[in-house]
Amino acid sequence: MKGIILAGGRGSRLFPLTITTSKQLLPVYNKPMIYYPLSLLMLAGIREVLIITMPEDAPSYQKLLSDGKSWGMRFSYAEQEHPRGLADAFLVGSNFVGNEPVCLILGDNIFFGHGLSEQLEAAAQLNSGALIFAYAVRDPERYGVVDFDERGVALSIEEKPIKPSSNYAVPGLYFYDGSVVERARNLEPSSRGELEITDLNKSYLESRELRVEVIGRGVAWLDAGTHESLLQASNFVQTIEERQGLMISSPEEIAFRAGYITRDELRILAHGLGDTSYAKYLSALLDEPQVPFWRGPADPE
Ligand code: G1P
Repeated sequence: MKGIILAGGRGSRLFPLTITTSKQLLPVYNKPMIYYPLSLLMLAGIREVLIITMPEDAPSYQKLLSDGKSWGMRFSYAEQEHPRGLADAFLVGSNFVGNEPVCLILGDNIFFGHGLSEQLEAAAQLNSGALIFAYAVRDPERYGVVDFDERGVALSIEEKPIKPSSNYAVPGLYFYDGSVVERARNLEPSSRGELEITDLNKSYLESRELRVEVIGRGVAWLDAGTHESLLQASNFVQTIEERQGLMISSPEEIAFRAGYITRDELRILAHGLGDTSYAKYLSALLDEPQVPFWRGPADPE
């Protein structure tokens, strides 16, 4: 399965922070925001990733992530000139996706918790229909809201409803089969002029191919799209990392533990990060046996 990270948009809810910088490059504690969704794709076993950005931000992302080789990944880039909606990712990325299954993750969505890697790995096996997730929140009206039966069959899905049918929000993490590009091509822009991800999901709902899995309360789902939630996300990551002495969403660590990169390659990555706590953390991994906590798929080459 391939992956797409949508890192476009103006980030206007974070002005003035995002006047000169893309939102998804802002720091969440000790790493750029995009490391978190990228790590999630890596944990799902996805190694070929398209990163969609605004044209003016593309050079910064390419400087940060390059072609992904040093992390055992393969990155490519595409530009979204105007924020035309989340489902536009499949039109911008149509050549990349082709007729293959794909996972889309929003560049400002952060997930952390026990059992998540296993759930994602299983999700990445999808080859027909669509799989989305449901997460209980206090304020579902701010999100896509899904209602579903006990077998995980979706009954309804609505974008930012005034009267939500459930308290289950749909996080910005979606798995689709090879028909997704064709379905995205058939969408009409909504009243705000955007191709809505919820309309894409409705297309699967109408053909009875939309499955919903609950992400349990033991998993944290944070978005970092406002000043308050950005600081909360940083504080959350710092609190857990300090307590456990383990990093949340370090792509270098995930690549090493998955066996995508060798000990020598990790040493080079650590060296490139100078005299930082991030570099020291990676260097400390060099003394550990390279026991994978899961076995990733074969190299995409
Ligand atoms: C978007 C989607 C919404 C989803 C949310 C998750 O909303 O439209 O369905 O629940 O992402 O972060 P936005 O945050 O762009 O308003």
